[in-house]
Amino acid sequence: MALQINPSILSADFSRLADEAKAVEGADWLHVDVMDNHFVPNLTLGVPVVESLGKVTETPLDCHLMIDDPDRWAPQYIEAGAGSVTFHVEAAAAPVRLAREIRAKGARASMALKPATPIEPYEDLLPELDMLLVMTVEPGFGGQAFLDIMLPKIRRTRQLIDKHGLQMWLQVDGGVSAATIERCAEAGADVFVAGSAVYGADDPAKAVQALRRLAEK
Ligand code: DX5
Ligand code: ZN
Repeated sequence: MALQINPSILSADFSRLADEAKAVEGADWLHVDVMDNHFVPNLTLGVPVVESLGKVTETPLDCHLMIDDPDRWAPQYIEAGAGSVTFHVEAAAAPVRLAREIRAKGARASMALKPATPIEPYEDLLPELDMLLVMTVEPGFGGQAFLDIMLPKIRRTRQLIDKHGLQMWLQVDGGVSAATIERCAEAGADVFVAGSAVYGADDPAKAVQALRRLAEK
C-alpha cells in the first residue's frame, strides 16, 4: 500500500472548518480528533461537527476518538460519516466486540495505544483491526514534541503485523513533521497524521506533498 498522509483538523482554524478541510483535498484522509475532557484534558468536537465536515469535503474522515466509553459512541461516528474509527484500547470495555461492530457498520476499525501502553498484550487482536495507531505524543493537544522513545514500539508493531501476514495499516500521530516523518517511515509506519506541520504551513496542500515525498524516500 502507498504511504498515506492524514492532516489533522485539530490544528486548523475552527471558525473556517469547511475551507480548512478543502485546503487539504488531495490528502488521503482527514484526521478528526474527538476529545471529551475526560479521557484527555481537552474538549474538541463531536458527532454533529463530524457530520457537517463530511458534507463539505470529498476526503474520507479518519475519526480518532480520545473519549471514555468508545463502545457506546463509536457507532454514532460511523452514522455521521466516518470512514475509519479509532478507539483507544485504554478506554474500551470490549475492544474485540467494538472492532467487530465498527466493521459490521461498514467503517475501518482501528485501535490506538497511548505512549505507555505496550503492543504485545494485543498481538492476538491484530486480525480484528484495519489499523493500529501508535501515539507518538500523549494524546490531548496538537503541536507537542515527537517522542523518539516510541520508535522501538513502531518497529515491534510492524514486525508483529508482518509476522501474521496482515494487510492492516500502521498509523503514527503526534509531532509528525518534516523533521520526524522519515524516522517513522523507516520504523515501519505507513499512515502519518500531521496537524501543526500541515496547518501551520503557508500552503497546507504543499505541506502534505512535501511530507509524502519525505516519507517515500
Ligand atoms: C493529539 C492528536 C493529534 C494532533 C496531532 O492528541 O491526536 O492528532 O492533532 O497534532 P501535531 O501533528 O501538531 O502533533
Ligand atoms: Zn489524533
